[in-house]
Amino acid sequence: MRYVTLLDLYTHRITQKYVNRSGMAHAISTAYHAFRLAKQYDVNPDLATKAAFLHDIGHYMWYRDGKWDYELYKRNDIHAIKGAERAHKLLIRLGEHPQHAKEIALAVLLHTDSYLPDGQLQLTSLQKVVALADEKDEEPKGNHHYRTISDKRAQRMLEQLDRLVDEALTPLPFEKNS
Ligand SMILES: [Fe+2]
Repeated sequence: MRYVTLLDLYTHRITQKYVNRSGMAHAISTAYHAFRLAKQYDVNPDLATKAAFLHDIGHYMWYRDGKWDYELYKRNDIHAIKGAERAHKLLIRLGEHPQHAKEIALAVLLHTDSYLPDGQLQLTSLQKVVALADEKDEEPKGNHHYRTISDKRAQRMLEQLDRLVDEALTPLPFEKNS
């Protein structure tokens, strides 16, 4: 059962504010990559697509003198930590199952290791799917954050992905023995 759809997330003002900041087009294509990868890794496509869609919701733009400053970002960024908390709060507010909200928040927290001290991290399949989906959509110099998408197209794509997730979660009809 799905408690919250991608479209529910998309239309919320918190998503509009923060996901638009880090790139709506990137969030949507990462969610599509996650849907395909979820099949491959046998993970719940509902959780994978929502975590992928929200993975960058914690981004903060590091600017110095009106210009994006990569060094400043590299040194100070904690977008995965902020994103995990923000995604969790939003999901709970929209009525997500607390266990699902926790799994999604953890996948957001671990979608990148750029902010973590060196060490070995053992990712679950869901966490791996979200990290891989993000990687698949990355462009050099962070250009994926600047791709744009119209509101109409974003809604259409998310409605379609919601349908695909619903279909994937619906058990096949009972087959009669012949
Ligand atoms: Fe990303």
